[in-house]
Amino acid sequence: MSIAYLNGSYTPLEEARISPLDRGFLFGDGIYEVIPYYNGRSVGLVPHIERMIAGLAAIEIQNNKSVAEWKELLDDLVARNSDINHNLGVYVHISRGTDTKRFHAYPENVEPTIFAFCFAIKDPAPVDRNAVKTTSVNTTEDLRWKRCHIKSTALLGNVIHFQEGHIEGHGEILLYNADNVLTEASSSNAFIVKDGKVITPIQDNQILPGITRRIIIDSIKADGTLEIEERNITMDEVHNADEIWVTSSSKEIAPVTSIDGKPVGNGEVGAVWEKAFAIYTAAKFDH
Ligand code: PDD
Repeated sequence: MSIAYLNGSYTPLEEARISPLDRGFLFGDGIYEVIPYYNGRSVGLVPHIERMIAGLAAIEIQNNKSVAEWKELLDDLVARNSDINHNLGVYVHISRGTDTKRFHAYPENVEPTIFAFCFAIKDPAPVDRNAVKTTSVNTTEDLRWKRCHIKSTALLGNVIHFQEGHIEGHGEILLYNADNVLTEASSSNAFIVKDGKVITPIQDNQILPGITRRIIIDSIKADGTLEIEERNITMDEVHNADEIWVTSSSKEIAPVTSIDGKPVGNGEVGAVWEKAFAIYTAAKFDH
């Protein structure tokens, strides 16, 4: 049975209850994280907590826990749920809290609502370009807001874009801005490979500063055998890339072999993906 954490108590997930006046419910006024644990070992736990604390500060939700206290809370929740599966994702969500009325302004003296639960996640993909599952994508203009660097629970913009891919049978949808420059995907970051070089969009307000993205960049740089660059990428470059990857805590590095109905490169998973995924896999628990 899944045990959830809600405001200091542990409860079976199905029995967890919040008020309909919670600002997370009414306004999507909150911050969230999804953190993977493989056999009890987390990936990027501290960076996830730091991003969450930065997000809370950015929208002025009070946070009374240190990084160490958050770490203890999440590790403990994973331990309590170890019977569900050997690999778990932890979803943690902090809303501004429950007001007495529906009023847009931030209320004063309201305790944030803290909610977390665990769910089963798959084993990591094999580091084998012939065995990994591939993804197809389509593309559309990014019509979300201009604060995509904040991991807000208000995900309707992302949800609409994800659905535009899903309804066409794709695992993701790549997004581009009004200048025809790649931003990210609806629930993941994006990378391309051209002539052996790994390239990913710069980190600004148009993308989520993904923890997986960060671990990939840092581990590739530390390894030193692949070239990696952060810069603007036009959609022409995306369509002519040798490889495309989408990355997130749940997908790790997912190779994309079809874009808008056409093959990416030769239509097969690339050698650079395999190299990068090997580097990432060797480094991920150190982050
Ligand atoms: N999604 N960009 C967007 C819009 C995302 O929603 C996510 C993650 C990422 C990748 O971030 P990270 O590597 O830190 O997981 C990029 C999560 C997993 C989700 O909403 O379920």
